[in-house]
Amino acid sequence: MSHVLGQVKDLREQCREALAKIGSLTALQEERVRFLGKKGEITRLLRMLGTLSPEERPLVGSTVNELRDEMEMAFDAAKMRLEVLEAEKEEERGRLDVTLPCRGRGWGSFHPVVQVMHEVIDVFIGLGYSVALGPEIEDDFHNFEALNIPSYHPARDMQDTFYVEGNRLLRTHTSPVQVRSMLRWGAPLRIICPGKVFRRDSDPTHSPMFHQLEGLLVDREVSIADLKGSLEAFAKAMFGPEVKARYRASYFPFTEPSMEMDVSCVACGGKNPSCRICKGSGWLEISGLGMVHPNVLRAGGIDPTVYNGFAWGMGLDRIALLKYDVRDLRFFFDGDVTFLSRGGMR
Ligand code: DAH
Repeated sequence: MSHVLGQVKDLREQCREALAKIGSLTALQEERVRFLGKKGEITRLLRMLGTLSPEERPLVGSTVNELRDEMEMAFDAAKMRLEVLEAEKEEERGRLDVTLPCRGRGWGSFHPVVQVMHEVIDVFIGLGYSVALGPEIEDDFHNFEALNIPSYHPARDMQDTFYVEGNRLLRTHTSPVQVRSMLRWGAPLRIICPGKVFRRDSDPTHSPMFHQLEGLLVDREVSIADLKGSLEAFAKAMFGPEVKARYRASYFPFTEPSMEMDVSCVACGGKNPSCRICKGSGWLEISGLGMVHPNVLRAGGIDPTVYNGFAWGMGLDRIALLKYDVRDLRFFFDGDVTFLSRGGMR
């Protein structure tokens, strides 16, 4: 047998082994050049044909050609296989693994004070009130004078009030909206006014900006019983049907008579002498209120001989403080998302 035929056999074997090991298209191309390239093994064998006798040449020649065809087919098949494999790998790399745990997506929520505000508004809307709003930058007339607060009243002091340019000030309470509403709509009137108010104060129970909700009802023959009925309906809706109310005589320039309303402690119900919330008193101060002073009605363009009314003002932050058992009012305004998204505040 020609020595070339022996080499054909060896080469077929080598090629088979090489193909079995190839793992990438680049490696495949390199091997293809080694076996089938212009200077490759097959060419080398074909060149050797010249050294053979004319009898041997046709058989050996066709055997080498067969091997070349075989190799070409094998390389083509290997190429297709590798292309499929690489495409799969590529797809794998870009694929989304839906079983991976996802990064949490934070849910926004209303600020606790805003939640309380909405709850209180809902209760009073249910009682027939409308929401009225007023400016946060006020003038002396609406914030003080029309509310029967004389010029010597300590609330006007620079210590309490933030004054801004042009005889303006940041409203110290929501009461000026009473006056604006009377002047705008006249009597009869039933409004609540939620909003921001400002005072020069900062400690665990006071913040320079806080929220109040003012209420005003003006009609004919309004009585203190109506006032109590409205506020107690509110207290029960807000704190539960078992809540009790009491009234203490007080003083506000814009109401006569004036009172303060307490509700039984929402934490201990008045049963825990060492309660941190009510400090053992069993009561929580919730609102200032009274019958609208005739001077205030007059400043609002309403005849006090025909109409009378009641008004109240309450701190919304304080209600949120009680409701969420927060120790320092200023936490509400620090913008700490962890604090603000505490359980139950959504
Ligand atoms: N304006 C008062 C304050 O800021 C709260 C208040 C008390 C409002 C009695 C009223 C009221 O309408 O009748 O402390």
